[in-house]
Amino acid sequence: MSKILVAYISWTGNTKKVADAIFEVLEGDKTIKTMDEVQILDEYNLIFLGFPVHSHSVPFKTEELIKRIPPGKKIALFSTHGSLTGSRLSREALEHASILASNSKILGTFTCRGKVSLQALEVLSKSPEHKAWAEMAASAQTHPDKHDLDDARSFAKWITTLSLQD
Ligand SMILES: Cc1cc2nc3c(=O)[nH]c(=O)nc-3n(C[C@H](O)[C@H](O)[C@H](O)COP(=O)(O)O)c2cc1C
Repeated sequence: MSKILVAYISWTGNTKKVADAIFEVLEGDKTIKTMDEVQILDEYNLIFLGFPVHSHSVPFKTEELIKRIPPGKKIALFSTHGSLTGSRLSREALEHASILASNSKILGTFTCRGKVSLQALEVLSKSPEHKAWAEMAASAQTHPDKHDLDDARSFAKWITTLSLQD
């Protein structure tokens, strides 16, 4: 039987919500862990990896974990971000993660927006590094919402179907 792992990292709970939605619809032998808890990766046939975009990139712990994935492993990547879905700012970290994971078999990727507190945005938008995404993130206050989580569930089902195909 196929063994599936959902591994995620989340500071304010947005990525955790998406990870939980994905985990909820998986069938069979499944495990959910934070990236801090993950040790052995060999035993899984499929791994979902989720992270928030931080400072235009992939959190260090995610980078470390991706580098430990055995070559040829089937994986799916998901991320949350404050910037608008589809904008370059929302895609850059996922593109970086995909390059890091180029020895794996990436079956698909999923992203949605995730809120940042207005107080934090006020501070962050004053720094040149954060200004662009932080301004976009003002409209992300309701995310991830029900539709995002429904999409995450559909994504998880689609990935599991794909993973059984070869
Ligand atoms: C310090 C910090 C840096 C961030 N950097 C970015 C960024 O570069 N691009 C972006 O789109 N969102 C950025 N965000 C927004 C987060 O990616 C978003 O809120 C995410 O959903 C947080 O996920 P979490 O609740 O799982 O930690 C940043 C948030 C914080 C607090």
